[in-house]
Amino acid sequence: MPSRDEMIAAIDIGTTKVTTLIGNIKKNNQIEIKSFGTVECKGMKKGLVVDINESTKSILNSIGIAEKSSNFFIDGAFIGVTGKHISFINNWTEINIASPGKIVRKSDVEKLLSIANRINLSSEHYVIHTLIKQFAIDDEKDIVDPVGLSTDKLAVEILTIYGSVIPIKNVINSVKAANIEIEDIILEALASSEAVLTPEEKESGVIMLDIGGGTTDVAVYKNKKMVFTYCLPVGGDLISNDISIGLNIPFIKAEEIKKKFANVDHNFYETLNKVNIQDLKLDRNKTALNIRLYSIVNDRVKELLTLVKEKVEAYGFIHSIPCGVVITGGTANLKGINALATEIFDMPARIGYPLDIEGPAEIVNNPMYSTACGLLKYAYQIRHFADYNRIDEKKAKNKGFIAKFKDFIFKILKNENFE
Ligand SMILES: Nc1ncnc2c1ncn2[C@@H]1O[C@H](COP(=O)(O)OP(=O)(O)OP(=O)(O)O)[C@@H](O)[C@H]1O
Ligand SMILES: [Mg+2]
Repeated sequence: MPSRDEMIAAIDIGTTKVTTLIGNIKKNNQIEIKSFGTVECKGMKKGLVVDINESTKSILNSIGIAEKSSNFFIDGAFIGVTGKHISFINNWTEINIASPGKIVRKSDVEKLLSIANRINLSSEHYVIHTLIKQFAIDDEKDIVDPVGLSTDKLAVEILTIYGSVIPIKNVINSVKAANIEIEDIILEALASSEAVLTPEEKESGVIMLDIGGGTTDVAVYKNKKMVFTYCLPVGGDLISNDISIGLNIPFIKAEEIKKKFANVDHNFYETLNKVNIQDLKLDRNKTALNIRLYSIVNDRVKELLTLVKEKVEAYGFIHSIPCGVVITGGTANLKGINALATEIFDMPARIGYPLDIEGPAEIVNNPMYSTACGLLKYAYQIRHFADYNRIDEKKAKNKGFIAKFKDFIFKILKNENFE
């Protein structure tokens, strides 16, 4: 049995399911999923807790299953947050360098970061992540580590990701009511990206879409860094809802039909139409149903992808994404979705599976578990490179937050692997 220090747990509380992963960090730093528990999630809507008793019950069930199968009992875990309340601020902060010879010292960087970190948010907001995008000296940008360089002015660009206190507290309380300490809170879009994107994609430019049941989490990466994130409160549930209304069948049946028969690839639709005319032996009703299904599902997914594209376009990133779109989340299993995404975005698209993580095939071979796998991967980075966020004020105080934050900054500056 591995020691407690090497064990790591993550809970992905999604709109449709809760997944608990208990992992182990191997000697070669590879993460291995030892056990998992995944159950239907009740009490969540569009990524938000709407019934805390129900969400806590689902969390308890999923933890119980994971614990039973590895015989390892957890008292703390990393958890994900999402929802349309998530937002970000990108800002530059600058200081003059007054040292002899205008050489940037470690203390200058610390001073700059502590100023940059003082962003003005109302008490209704929580800062979830503070991510350094780049440093700049005088007019030269894209500096990774400015210590030792000579300059008049030192600047830093920071992406601060924050959300509303109330929905975040509701997730925290659901987990605490299950007697689990929260080790940290991680943005789900960041976790999914951590799971499915390659370092090359993050460097060149890529759009990650995690289309779940109730939300679509979006992250854009450029020059190795996240530059944009967005949560659209629409996911696969709405597709099933449309099928349910369109075909006048119960939601559960619509879910089943969607998973078995829906296909949003235009080639599939063309084939259906051709076959219908030529092959008289084919069941006409079945073909007509498939065509109807195509048009219902295609309309909804097209609308969803177009909304995302417009959002990314509004920030001016759409023309610098050579690696295209990576789709993950349960709805990535929808047949033909990468073909439709290629058409809408006019870019290459692929399905994103969890990468560089060992574990049961049903987890690591299914995009539905990307967030959970990414939570484990990101959790490992946080554990090893110190805690740099400040969501839990009390916890932060206990651990000497500012000291840890600075420590983390220097570790990431020195460590290229932290991406
Ligand atoms: N084969 C499939 N074809 C189409 N849709 C599928 C398929 N398999 C799963 N889905 C859909 O994936 C969705 C669930 O995805 P996922 O588990 O990623 O969501 P979640 O994490 O619970 O929710 P969210 O992240 O939105 O809060 C459901 O809408 C489900 O119908
Ligand atoms: Mg999810």
